[in-house]
Amino acid sequence: MPLLDSPLPIVAAPMAGGPTTVELLRAVIEAGAFGFLAGGYKTAEALEDEIREVRRLGAGFGVNLFVPSRDGVDASAFVEYAEEVRQEASVYGLEIDSEPFTDDDRWGEKLALLISEPVPAVSFTFGLPDPTDIAALQAAGSRVLATVTTPHEALLARDAGVDGLIVQGSSAGGHSATFDPRRTPEPLASDELVREVLRAVDLPAIGAGGVDGPQAVRSLLEAGAEAVAVGTLLLRAKEAGTSATHRDALADPTFSETVLTRAFTGRPARALRNGFTDRHPHGIDAYPAVHHLTRSMRQAANKAGDADRLHLWAGTGWRRAAPVPAADVIRHLAEVA
Ligand SMILES: Cc1cc2nc3c(=O)[nH]c(=O)nc-3n(C[C@H](O)[C@H](O)[C@H](O)COP(=O)(O)O)c2cc1C
Repeated sequence: MPLLDSPLPIVAAPMAGGPTTVELLRAVIEAGAFGFLAGGYKTAEALEDEIREVRRLGAGFGVNLFVPSRDGVDASAFVEYAEEVRQEASVYGLEIDSEPFTDDDRWGEKLALLISEPVPAVSFTFGLPDPTDIAALQAAGSRVLATVTTPHEALLARDAGVDGLIVQGSSAGGHSATFDPRRTPEPLASDELVREVLRAVDLPAIGAGGVDGPQAVRSLLEAGAEAVAVGTLLLRAKEAGTSATHRDALADPTFSETVLTRAFTGRPARALRNGFTDRHPHGIDAYPAVHHLTRSMRQAANKAGDADRLHLWAGTGWRRAAPVPAADVIRHLAEVA
């Protein structure tokens, strides 16, 4: 039995913060792909509503959650960084609270929801849940997937008892799934990473990162991935909830590259290089404290249409993201699958 049940070996990757919507999932599922809802940043109630709507489609789908960080915050580094962000936020007349605030993204409630109302697949990013939580989800009937960025993380995931892996290369848009936020994921082609992981671990794997067309899908499948997950190419799809400022930036030819940055959230993430990533090349390792620190600034930037201070998550294939129905993106990617 395949890890994820769908006619095509294409997966709509979870994209928290707006882009993943129920409408996007409906469109990709109807086109024959597998879709993941993004549970990150949401309340359990909001996630429950989305699950109920997608369940009505009667097809396989999954839910993705962020594993909470157990790391502390270096208070003096945080105060220094807060001063940098305060200056940026003052452009919008905003005050910034330099007390670090951290939370667990309502981990317990969302896990309890997924155990009481099981979905076909649950995936995790930023680390591993306790093996007992993995076992509880499996006992409820879900397949459990861990997102990994190295063969070592894949071994840890196997030992924790997961059913399969999402192997995410460093060309992926948005946050790196790295278990260690202090690490900067090294540049390595995603198909090469899939090969390395599958040499280390005998588990079914979904390949992800930098998919820019059907040839990239083929390379990941040839490397041994059972299916291929795509995020960035869906960001401009009509059904996605991507903000107008983000969409416009993805289409703007003056953006010339993507960078891995910690500046917005305290975890490495791939984004279009902009003024904020240039002005804060180091950021600090403090997720989710930095996410909360920069949030009001990012919301103001988004509202003002100011792409210079917005986290413009994008993988290396961003130039191929087109403003078309999501089904067209899926069908195009599946051409050679
Ligand atoms: C805007 C955006 C938001 C993302 N949010 C999540 C998330 O909530 N959970 C997660 O596991 N991965 C998240 N990712 C990573 C994707 O799941 C996936 O690994 C990545 O998009 C694949 O690379 P690609 O963007 O080059 O296709 C996000 C990616 C983007 C672009």
